[in-house]
Amino acid sequence: LKVLSVASEAVPLVKTGGLADVAGALPAALAPHGVETTTLLPGYPSVMQTLKRARAVHVWDSLLGTPARLLAGKLDGTLPLLVLDAPVLYAREGAPYTDTTGRDWGDNWRRFAALGRAAADIAGGAMVKRGKPQRFDLVHAHDWQAAMTASYLRFAPFGKDERVPSVMTIHNMAFQGWFGAEVFPQLGLPSEAWTMDGVEYHGGLGMLKAGLACADAVTTVSPTYAREIRSATFGMGLEGLIVARGNAVSGILNGIDTSLWNPAKDLALAASYNHHRLEKRTANKRALETEFGLDEAAGPLFIAVSRLTWQKGMDVLPEVLDHLAGIGGRLALLGSGDAQIEQQLLKGAARHPGRIGIRIGYDEDLSHRMLGGGDAILVPSRFEPCGLTQLYGLAYGCLPVVARTGGLADTVIDANPAALAAGCATGVQFDGVNYDSLAAALTRTVDLFHETGTWEHIQKNAMTCDFSWARSGKAYADLYGSLIA
Ligand code: ADP
Ligand code: GLC
Repeated sequence: LKVLSVASEAVPLVKTGGLADVAGALPAALAPHGVETTTLLPGYPSVMQTLKRARAVHVWDSLLGTPARLLAGKLDGTLPLLVLDAPVLYAREGAPYTDTTGRDWGDNWRRFAALGRAAADIAGGAMVKRGKPQRFDLVHAHDWQAAMTASYLRFAPFGKDERVPSVMTIHNMAFQGWFGAEVFPQLGLPSEAWTMDGVEYHGGLGMLKAGLACADAVTTVSPTYAREIRSATFGMGLEGLIVARGNAVSGILNGIDTSLWNPAKDLALAASYNHHRLEKRTANKRALETEFGLDEAAGPLFIAVSRLTWQKGMDVLPEVLDHLAGIGGRLALLGSGDAQIEQQLLKGAARHPGRIGIRIGYDEDLSHRMLGGGDAILVPSRFEPCGLTQLYGLAYGCLPVVARTGGLADTVIDANPAALAAGCATGVQFDGVNYDSLAAALTRTVDLFHETGTWEHIQKNAMTCDFSWARSGKAYADLYGSLIA
């Protein structure tokens, strides 16, 4: 089975969040199930750099009005990669979706509609090798940036004779890619696409909506989030469409790439360890304390690695810093995002020198060191389609303290009396993201931490959970198979 995976980011070439981890890891997880995945990415400067000697395998004189080439390469040295080299759209300084000042690129509709148009062409056989069109059996599109693929496949396919099926995965309902109606005539779609069950949404172009309406199957990244998005709170306007698509919508939990996230083999750590050698974590903890200017102390060292946004509940965190320090906790936080949250966190750190350390920025290596040395990772999200940092926390024995929502609810077993008695707890869950619930969860975590035997038991449970891609790889492969049959 040949699958074209279309994403706007993928590890190790370009990453702004969990989507990149997933798009980067899924191809290898699918391979054992007979699925050969080729990843299509936009040719941002960071991606183009790795493709210096790549050959062009297809050329568009005009792809939604701009010249473009398709380059073939490898994602991580082995996995097939295609890159859309369209300098007018992607060769610019800044981030994948925003300029250097953090504002969305004004032509994002064209940048990502072009990605969809290219994907539909490629899947339909635009790429010709030795006189033969190279077709794909199925397309898997991730998030709004890739969603138009499904609409082009339905309304304006490249090969008119045969329809290529598509799967659309929602990684986050909060980002929908909505643009004014004036862009529609430039998309190269027939007028029948401009309807409620096509690409039109509230009088404009809704890219995520278009993908949800047009794809043959829709998935999201946890079973609980798949249920939650049927309601207005989590569906963010698209709940009606989700409900209407019925059984075509399912939740498949993300895994983690255990070749990158494994404390026994992690070169970023001062000391590697496994669940039999938990005492070796101490060296990592001491290193982390030094790195964040924290005092050694008896209480737990909390960490957080996160976008600093409302979704992640990071606006509540500054409010509980006094409580956290008051009950003997310490915090090392790495993140960036909302300027106001950044300021409030820094103020909290200034009030508690040696107790609270804040690092504003993005640092992949540091995030590994934090997981290897921290005692507990805070993930107080208001909504969380899956979440990966709590999974990294489980794997590293850095116990997750999470809000009971989405993938957080599906992956952490709360250390309540029943779970403790049964010996299966893996972390702490709490309901509602506000001062009282978060403060109570912190207190409960500190108390558990001081029960040495119990804490170690929970760490061992966490570290021996299977969050590899094995199971979910099979679930995606089965879904693909059902759409081809
Ligand atoms: P989301 O994609 O919504 O941000 P996830 O938990 O799925 O949430 O994925 C976030 C990914 O980004 C994880 O791999 C996490 O380690 C990483 N990450 C987030 N913020 C930072 C940061 N400041 N520095 C390094 N890695 C970060
Ligand atoms: C999104 C979600 C996050 C999920 C990630 C990968 O960024 O916010 O919960 O883990 O996608 O699927």
